[in-house]
Amino acid sequence: MRYGYFDNERKEYVIDRPDVPVSWTNYLGTEDTGTVISHNAGGYMFSGDPETHRVTRFRPNGVPLDRPGHYVYLRDNADGDYWSISWQPVGKDLSKASYITRHGLSYSVFECDYRDIHASQKLFIPRGRKCEIWDVTVKNNGPAARKLSVFGYCEFSFNIIEIDNQNFQMSMYCSGSRYADGVIECDNFYNPGMYHYFTSTFEPSGYDCVRDSFIGVYRTESNPVGVEKGVLSSSTELGNNQCGALSCDFTISPGETKRFVFILGVGDLMAGKAEKKLFSSMSAVDKAFDELCAYWKAKTDTMQVKTPSADLDTMLNTWNLYQSETNVVFSRFASFIEVGGRTGLGYRDTAQDAMCVVPSNPGQCRKRIIQLLRGLTSSGYGLHLFSPEVFDPDIPKVEPFKSPTVKPMPEPSSMVHGLKDTCSDDALWLVPSICEFVRETGDVAFLDRKFGYADGGEGTVLEHMEKILEFSAKQVGKSGICLGLRADWNDCINLGGGESALVSFLHYWAIDEFIGLLEHTGRQDRIPHFEEMKAKVRQACERELWDGEWYIRGITKSGRKIGTSADEEGKVHLESNSWAVCSGLAQGEHARKAVEAIDKYLYGEWGIHLNAPSYSKPDDEIGFVTRVYRGIKENGAIFSHPNPWAWVAAAKLGMGDLAMRFYNSLCPARQNDRIEVRQSEPYAYCQFVMGRDHTAYGRARHPWLTGSAGWAYFAATHYILGIRPDYDGLVVDPCIPASWDGFEVDRIFRGKKLHISVSNPEHIQKGKPVFFSTADLDSGELSVVMKP
Ligand code: NOJ
Repeated sequence: MRYGYFDNERKEYVIDRPDVPVSWTNYLGTEDTGTVISHNAGGYMFSGDPETHRVTRFRPNGVPLDRPGHYVYLRDNADGDYWSISWQPVGKDLSKASYITRHGLSYSVFECDYRDIHASQKLFIPRGRKCEIWDVTVKNNGPAARKLSVFGYCEFSFNIIEIDNQNFQMSMYCSGSRYADGVIECDNFYNPGMYHYFTSTFEPSGYDCVRDSFIGVYRTESNPVGVEKGVLSSSTELGNNQCGALSCDFTISPGETKRFVFILGVGDLMAGKAEKKLFSSMSAVDKAFDELCAYWKAKTDTMQVKTPSADLDTMLNTWNLYQSETNVVFSRFASFIEVGGRTGLGYRDTAQDAMCVVPSNPGQCRKRIIQLLRGLTSSGYGLHLFSPEVFDPDIPKVEPFKSPTVKPMPEPSSMVHGLKDTCSDDALWLVPSICEFVRETGDVAFLDRKFGYADGGEGTVLEHMEKILEFSAKQVGKSGICLGLRADWNDCINLGGGESALVSFLHYWAIDEFIGLLEHTGRQDRIPHFEEMKAKVRQACERELWDGEWYIRGITKSGRKIGTSADEEGKVHLESNSWAVCSGLAQGEHARKAVEAIDKYLYGEWGIHLNAPSYSKPDDEIGFVTRVYRGIKENGAIFSHPNPWAWVAAAKLGMGDLAMRFYNSLCPARQNDRIEVRQSEPYAYCQFVMGRDHTAYGRARHPWLTGSAGWAYFAATHYILGIRPDYDGLVVDPCIPASWDGFEVDRIFRGKKLHISVSNPEHIQKGKPVFFSTADLDSGELSVVMKP
């Protein structure tokens, strides 16, 4: 069953059945102001920090779904009938009204046809502004003139999530509203200087600033009294729930189109007036939208592919890149799942996100890398979750809002946690990210830049990297394998003083990458030390972790091995077996068998399971994973983020058919027609898909903000298509299905436009890697014939 389709020409996903099983979201905004919006216009806006600077309110995990939102209603003043342009919140009978949602790159369009009126509402956040435009058009397709009203409505938040949802004595009675000159101002009086506005470029016929005056008691957004009556009540009040509601009464002739623009933004009444003026002409609105489109065109142009797989093309050319960019811009804490309780940067997530979209967003990746360098301690571990502003000397320190009743705020120094809260993998991801950044941009000078450590002192980028590698070299257990500490990549494998195979493999990878960087920058004197470290890791891994048919996952504190052939549960794990190969540590038969074990024990039609069989009995020595229901999340679900690791592993071994089979199984676009099972949006990777040990096998959950996106993009472009930057040029090393005749790629590398054409006349899965030096790239045409 399908609910929509990909419009690749316009780079949009079109939902033509609005009654999808769960919210299908999109992200508006490309800088610090953003909105998460569903296919039914439900969602919320934030600016900077989704926890402490919420603009509009959201009732997460609510009933009905996705309320409230950024809604536009229409009313026929001849008989009082009304509807919303998005199907919800009014929810007209789908046999009488038709609805379409187009989710595009940082914009969403809702369209409705009802009783001869075609209406559309386009939402987007202009580049460089802290406001959201609601561009509404109404067309009369009927034979007679109509008298209609349009209403724009949103509910303001009490700004800080914690006090928006609890202890209203310090928020509700300190939030007020006023109206002047067509602008509604919501003043979060308790939090000095915190204002938001809602305005329009037309002169409104009516307004309401108080939510309950617009909605009415014992009503919802589905039947607001203001719309039902057709007259707003000019409400404003100090100390209540505030909203933005503006209306306009108009007559529309047959065939006529009218346009109305609402603006929701950050700032006070004056800021609202300025923005109203700025967008007073429709050409200014169109220009802002065109600029947004141009911004995305420049991004997607960094790599466009044409392969025999239409789904791969759809994902790489638009949706997978878009999702990866969204992660690196908004980090992980603004979605319908993460609704604001946590904020800042997760160390490992950010380090991985920043590795994956350097071609399209070098600036943001660099910014993230710097933030992570500053979030590193001088002992070489990263702060697991931290606010980057605290450690940025260029950001003036402002005293955060302190409510009289809220818990005392911790001092920044208390954010430097100790070893017991350290995740053993966190900082290791940063080393290859920095190498990738240098390979893509050629910015070697970056390595000598100095940055502070979170706990004091400073060092160059290279020194930070060395500290990371030394930390893991020291933090090893009895067997010589890295300690698991609080968790490794898997939040739910909590080995503490036990040992993690995954982390040792990651350590090996990071050392190997670092040696490559030392070679490139001529620092030969440091190489022997790291070669020795690498050899030691290799010996320990091969000695302790090989189980005969695959690699184990770790060793508990009491010395019990996890993930062995003798285990009945958690027998085979994806992380260790994929990373044994991705890291380059496993060779020959061990490497091949590790990948075969992934295929035999973990692969399924919806993707690769994280471990199998899933755990059924709590075992605190292994960790929280044993307390998650079977087949869900880290306990035997198809956890999406590590799936691409298996594609890389298969590709490294030259198994192109297998890599593509793995790729296809998880590919959201390929599940477009199976939404009765998948449920979630088919244009975004989800954090996980229920595994075969669960009754809802195949159901995807937690879309958008997941490391799956970056890794899927990185693995497919760098290892399946095999186009990888190198310090002195570009490598073309595809590993593709034997059936492919070849493929074409347009790629921008260090400012040069390249057209790469790969042909596969002998129908092999992998040929010899071809290296193009920077000088070879000058012609712009790269032609590769795959040869055994
Ligand atoms: C989600 C977390 O954000 C990420 O850091 C972690 O690696 C995965 N869960 C797996 O546990």
